[in-house]
Amino acid sequence: EDKVSVGLLGVGVVGSGVITLVEKHQEKLAHQLGCGVDVKKALVRDPNKKRHIEAEIDGTVLTLDPEDVLNDPDIDIIIEVMGGIDEAREHILNAFAAKKHVVTANKDLVALHGAELHEAAAKHKCDFYYEASVAGGIPILRGITDGFASDHIEQVMGIVNGTTNYILTKMHNEGVSYEDALKEAQELGFAEADPAADVEGLDAARKMAILGRLAFSTYIDLEDIEVNGINGIELADLQYADSFGFIMKLIGFAKFDGKQVEVNVQPALISQEHPLADVKNEYNAVYVYGEAVGEAMFYGAGAGSMPTASAVISDVVTVIKNMHRGVTGSQFVEPRFKKELKTDDQ
Ligand code: NAP
Ligand code: HSE
Repeated sequence: EDKVSVGLLGVGVVGSGVITLVEKHQEKLAHQLGCGVDVKKALVRDPNKKRHIEAEIDGTVLTLDPEDVLNDPDIDIIIEVMGGIDEAREHILNAFAAKKHVVTANKDLVALHGAELHEAAAKHKCDFYYEASVAGGIPILRGITDGFASDHIEQVMGIVNGTTNYILTKMHNEGVSYEDALKEAQELGFAEADPAADVEGLDAARKMAILGRLAFSTYIDLEDIEVNGINGIELADLQYADSFGFIMKLIGFAKFDGKQVEVNVQPALISQEHPLADVKNEYNAVYVYGEAVGEAMFYGAGAGSMPTASAVISDVVTVIKNMHRGVTGSQFVEPRFKKELKTDDQ
């Protein structure tokens, strides 16, 4: 076939990046895949809204009706980048029922309903990938599931939220107020639709749940994660820490000793000599500690239109390669270990 048709749910920060990048990199995609990629239809709320799409949109039809995208027989792959939980979940389940492969950037949905979505994908023999859901453009999920496939991962930790890292960097380095820094992060497209998820640490907790599940092959419930955000942090707090040579970062931590999982998200003061202190603005960095590999660090843009779109399209490439080979695949691995989480009295 000449082109594989893709349907997009959402043309916001990430969706616009997807359309732009597919158009810009058409030649490279065709070279790798032996076929092109066509974003045929896209679901939006307001078709008249101005969108930040750098390339010419080569005939992508904007629609208000999800059925238009989900039931188009030409469309093989659905990319969900609309965000939110209930509607996105329903659309993805409908996509699987219509035998369409799904790629999503939606960590809220994957952290909450990953198991159900995985089951539906398997039932309908469809692919389900979500590389962009954690750490934006960094291929951390592939790194964990493929790169360390033979290793025993003991610990994963780092900065997994771009918005809070942007806020803390601007406050610490430039003396910008918390409110102004958050506003900038929203304008740059890093923040969630409701930025409370970022600043209260929930976004990071959801990403740590996904990372931990894949790294340790065990179930992690969000309610078992201790979460503290950076809301309430003031410039004076950061200046005081700075006077002792420390900088504040929002750190996600997940550890597994073979029996028990411990996951938390906390603002932490770290030495300005530590490599994480150099992770600035919307950048993320994740350390993986494996029995065989020792320490490995993944670093790069953790949020934003093009980095996130690049992760989304890498999943689309994987799906198309699977289609050509006649196999189905998924990022989700059926956990090997039963849930046995640490409680306060242990
Ligand atoms: P966004 O800019 O708010 O875009 C959302 C898009 O979805 C908009 O085009 C919106 O339509 C459409 N949409 C939302 N609800 C809809 C509904 N009920 N019906 C029809 N269309 C609907 O969001 P985003 O920043 O691109 O994020 C999208 C997803 O990617 C989220 O799950 C987010 O967590 C995830 N993500 C974002 C980033 C990032 O850096 N922004 C990075 C990684 C992952 P209109 O344009 O017409 O309003
Ligand atoms: N709001 C998220 C962040 C987007 O700031 O990290 C990337 O997942």
